Amino acid sequence: MQGELKVFSGSSHSELAHGIASYIGMPLGKTRITRFSNENIKVKIDENVRGADVFVIQTSCPPVSDNLVEMLIMLDAMKYSSASRITAVLPYFPYARSDKKDESRISITARLVADLLQTAGADRVLTMTLHAPQILGFFRNPADQLMAHPILIQYFRQKDLSNTVVVATDAGSAKFAGFFAKRIGTPLAIIDKRRMDDTESAQSVALIGDVNGRDVIIYDDEIATGGSIREAARILRDFGAREVRVGVTHGVFSGNALETLNDADLNELVITDTIPLPESKLTSIKNLKILTAAPLFGEAIRRIHEGKSLSELMEV
Ligand code: R5P
Repeated sequence: MQGELKVFSGSSHSELAHGIASYIGMPLGKTRITRFSNENIKVKIDENVRGADVFVIQTSCPPVSDNLVEMLIMLDAMKYSSASRITAVLPYFPYARSDKKDESRISITARLVADLLQTAGADRVLTMTLHAPQILGFFRNPADQLMAHPILIQYFRQKDLSNTVVVATDAGSAKFAGFFAKRIGTPLAIIDKRRMDDTESAQSVALIGDVNGRDVIIYDDEIATGGSIREAARILRDFGAREVRVGVTHGVFSGNALETLNDADLNELVITDTIPLPESKLTSIKNLKILTAAPLFGEAIRRIHEGKSLSELMEV
């Protein structure tokens, strides 16, 4: 058992942070974050953390770079305040899609972020649904990845799934989609998706599996511009799918996502609240359902603090 449990939040997603703290049954720790006229950030930890087991929550959302730097400064402040153990809690991991060197002369930025977190003082990392599980290998210290499937499974199990097929939007997501399909007892289909260049536009060119006359649940890690989901819905409808639902962990909704998603032929779009959504997006995306990840993070934090297993949390 570590020192006293304390949970702090950066300024990226206070609603989720409060939800996590309230699940654990404690208030968020006190901090004062100041932004100076030269855009420098100052963090003051406004309570004693000496010897404490500290968790600092900060998700990746706009302004992405500011939020990342704020997190690094918070971790550094915790270190200099003599916390005994510091866990960086990143519901949506910054730069998660920059996880490989698939072109010459580029950075593997997700690994750089991992290095920065550790340099700033993180002894552990807790995150959710990484773009690729091998990102965990970027950390030399312990890192835990939660998955959204317990949340999504609980939700989709309330529906009639007798005629349903789970669909992976590309070969890369087939493993996790297959796991989800197995847990809810449906077959799996896979879309052959190709990205032609760096413009973030993707094309669905073929479908492996049968969706004719079936309801489908498209399962993916994140929606960014919404292009993959719109393309997936289009090809699934072409192949005769009936109801098209979507279950994803991270609703990034960048660029023209709002228009793109409203243009997609979807019966329901289910996401978790790892990323805060402005009211304009909350109210204007059709058929949007948001499930909270706060209890899952709260339980994970409690278990890490008490030295208990996290894998049980994923067994649904
Ligand atoms: C891709 O590899 C991911 O699993 C998602 O499908 C992708 O990030 C979604 O991006 P977008 O919404 O921009 O198509």
